[in-house]
Amino acid sequence: MIQMPSLKEARLRKQKDVMVQTKQYIQDKSLSQLGKGKTYFIKTYGCQMNEHDSENIKALLEEMSFQETTDMEKADFILLNTCAIRENAHNKVFGFLGRVKNMKEKNPHVIAGICGCMAQEEVVVEEILQKYKWVDIVFGTHNIHHLPKLLHQIITQQEKEIEVYSKEGDIIENIPAKRDSKYKAWVNIMYGCDKFCTYCIVPYTRGKQRSRKKEDILKEVKQLIKEGYKEVTLLGQNVNAYGKDFNQNYKMENLLEDVALTGIDRIRFVTSHPWDFTDEMIHVIQKYQNIMPYIHLPIQSGSNTVLKRMGRRYTKEQYLTLFYKLKKNIPNCSITTDIIVGFPNETEEEFKETLDIVKECQFDSAFTFIFSKREGTPAARMEDSISIEEKNRRLQELNQLVNYYAKAANEKYLHKIVPVLIEGYSDKDKNKLVGYTDTMKLVNIKGDPSAIGNIVKVEITDVKTWSLDGKIVS
Ligand code: 5AD
Ligand code: SF4
Repeated sequence: MIQMPSLKEARLRKQKDVMVQTKQYIQDKSLSQLGKGKTYFIKTYGCQMNEHDSENIKALLEEMSFQETTDMEKADFILLNTCAIRENAHNKVFGFLGRVKNMKEKNPHVIAGICGCMAQEEVVVEEILQKYKWVDIVFGTHNIHHLPKLLHQIITQQEKEIEVYSKEGDIIENIPAKRDSKYKAWVNIMYGCDKFCTYCIVPYTRGKQRSRKKEDILKEVKQLIKEGYKEVTLLGQNVNAYGKDFNQNYKMENLLEDVALTGIDRIRFVTSHPWDFTDEMIHVIQKYQNIMPYIHLPIQSGSNTVLKRMGRRYTKEQYLTLFYKLKKNIPNCSITTDIIVGFPNETEEEFKETLDIVKECQFDSAFTFIFSKREGTPAARMEDSISIEEKNRRLQELNQLVNYYAKAANEKYLHKIVPVLIEGYSDKDKNKLVGYTDTMKLVNIKGDPSAIGNIVKVEITDVKTWSLDGKIVS
């Protein structure tokens, strides 16, 4: 079956309402042996939302008796969960597809699939149909729960399955998850985004903002506590707008408070848009010790004219007011950000204003990007006379500044004793443990492995730009 995505439909929804319905996922038990004796390999690109989708996909596959392998060469089903946010993410996927093709040539029985945000792009699916005819399955971000049905079709009918919906509206509860960590968990609180920043493809690939019901979120958090989880990260493209799509008066501050009252040790939330960050939210964060003093607050640019062209709905002055309010009211709060350089026709002056705001805010860290044209977004049609060499130069200049302040922020931790949730062994040095502070600093730690899974006190013994070293003191 072929059901293609449509950019026209994805755009149309900007003007009209979407009926949101909550439905329950029910396992089709008749497919529980479909993957017996078979293995799967998933490669995940992009954000936490995609990471969590992959956790769901893994559980769906294991319900069908597929087993995970980390060796692609041994897999019977290879799936790329893709990201569309920038062109390089896009190029990486097409690069990796070359390797998958080799595998298929050696083992024609291998099933090759693509899902995630790129699968929601009409141009991408057209390219796959024309140039990557050997891809067996493409499904989008709105119908992950159909994977068992699609795989069944492929295995029994040997036909290609393309199923991507550009109209969204459903929230599917109860999709199982095979979580990567035993101690910290992602919890979706909303899907999609209604902000339509002019550079961003997310509103087209993830659809309209749909908040999950508070009962479903709280049930999930309480279940995670029972299973021994210590930390939840509430996930959404724009979490502060949680609940704005409901008619009731239940907003992000109410949800945060209710999640805090479940008693889970640590709560984080990403990503926050400055526009929707209310004083009530700040008050709740201040009130509950288990809401972590860490806020990711993308600024994107320090220039009001660029912010306007980006459609960000705030000025740098408004951002700074919020920034200082957070710093003043949440003791020890770390704030990180996202910045785009080389937005169409960004002048040297405008870029300098971004450098100035980085100097003023001294962010704990920042993700920095060169503007990437995304098909179908308003910014892709804006005139742009800035060369890629110049954009690269600006990125480097910005990165130097960002790194300087990241190191400076870390230096404040030297010899301090901080709480760290120990997650396991370090990938780089198996004799060390790793974990994150309440303020989201990565720490490499000397200490007894019995601390894994616990929040312990760690003394910081050395600092680097992107991490801290420490030893357990309790
Ligand atoms: N080009 C460059 N960066 C982008 N981002 C989103 N869209 C684009 C784009 N077209 C960045 C923003 C956002 C982060 C997740 O990715 O900074 O906050
Ligand atoms: Fe994209 Fe803006 Fe929505 Fe973030 S808030 S996902 S940048 S449209």
